[in-house]
Amino acid sequence: MKRAAVLGVILSACLAGTAVGGEPTADRQALMKNVGAAAGAGGKIMKGEAAFDLSAAQLILRTMNAAALGLGYMFPPGSETGNDTEAATAIWDDPAGFEAAVSKFVTDTSANVTDEASFKAAFATATKNCGTCHEGFRVKKQ
Ligand code: HEC
Repeated sequence: MKRAAVLGVILSACLAGTAVGGEPTADRQALMKNVGAAAGAGGKIMKGEAAFDLSAAQLILRTMNAAALGLGYMFPPGSETGNDTEAATAIWDDPAGFEAAVSKFVTDTSANVTDEASFKAAFATATKNCGTCHEGFRVKKQ
């Protein structure tokens, strides 16, 4: 390939990247919606409204863990507003506190789920983080 063509390919890859990698506000809201869906599915198992299934149970915890691992990168400076964000200013005013809440969420979603009992224990521990973090770092609109 000629040099200009190579540059063209690299450039279009970069441009596509910009278009796909959206705004952090929308990305973190989508991430949290997935966590909400996982929590909803897990809640049904907890209440006996859905049958326990090991693969589903593991996926629920993994979904939360994947979100937890990404969460710390989704509040860059400049993303304090937009998309009706519910992110509280405390995230930027108290970065150490927010980082601690995120890393606790990572730890508390890392348990190895091997059966119904270990799922129920792990899910209860993981979901304690929702309210704690939302209380300090989310301003619920509406
Ligand atoms: C470390 C902090 C933290 C933890 C832990 C956390 N959240 Fe959130 N969550 C946020 C923040 C911040 C927002 C607001 C994001 C925004 O609007 O930019 C949010 C928003 C949400 C939303 C609204 C998404 C939307 O815009 O529609 C849902 C649903 C949600 N969280 C569910 C959960 C559940 C369920 C858990 C626990 C399993 C959880 N979250 C744990 C910080 C956290």
